[in-house]
Amino acid sequence: MAATFLSPVPAFSLAAKQGDTARVLITSPTSDGHGISCSSVSAFPSASRKKRNTSLVVSATGETLTGVVFQPFEEVKKEVFVVPNSPQVSFARQYFVDECEAAINEQINVEYTASYVYHAMFAYFDRDNIALKGLAKFFKESSEEEREHAEKLMEYQNIRGGKVVLHSILTSPSEFEHVEKGDALYAMELALSLEKLTNEKLLSLHKVADENNDPQMADFVESEFLTEQVESIKKIAEYVAQLRMVGKGHGVWHFDQMLLN
Ligand SMILES: [Fe+2]
Repeated sequence: MAATFLSPVPAFSLAAKQGDTARVLITSPTSDGHGISCSSVSAFPSASRKKRNTSLVVSATGETLTGVVFQPFEEVKKEVFVVPNSPQVSFARQYFVDECEAAINEQINVEYTASYVYHAMFAYFDRDNIALKGLAKFFKESSEEEREHAEKLMEYQNIRGGKVVLHSILTSPSEFEHVEKGDALYAMELALSLEKLTNEKLLSLHKVADENNDPQMADFVESEFLTEQVESIKKIAEYVAQLRMVGKGHGVWHFDQMLLN
């Protein structure tokens, strides 16, 4: 049978050390014609002795001097790689601990709670006797954004093979008048506090991923949430500053118009 040389791929590539023997994987059909047998041979003839000391080592036989072993058809038999029989458990789940799964469900609740409060603010500022349409629009969009965050966490939970469990959401306030601050500033300050709280919970979620040695989950929290969260805090902090400048009454109407555009 003619032997076939496979091209080296990154997963097989190992940095060569002085004295390493360079090897490549050879496959050939088995005698029954249904399978493939693997073996490795020296990749460089003696005439290339000088070159092999600086080349990549490729091996699938566990015979490398680097100590790195890759025996796919043996290693895949380990219990951790066995696909579960029960349809009740995830087939995809790997290195995803219960604590990470629970922390994601808790963050889903945080996002939904923020969404709920913002929705209540939308309803308040949309009233005919309040009629701050810019604030109503801003809080409606904020509510939708928080719900999208919850959904993104749900999709991630499913990607990792966890189960989404929804907890109850606390009742939101419905009235946002404040004698000294006025309703617009009071609501915006409440929004700023909520965003900071959400950021604190996201940092806790990231810590749970770190402590459980789950770099993929940590990366997900970082790339999908942390930057956007500090940007939201900055934007709402600026709105608070502007509302403190304009005071109550006419200035709030101009602020509200700015939010409409
Ligand atoms: Fe959020």
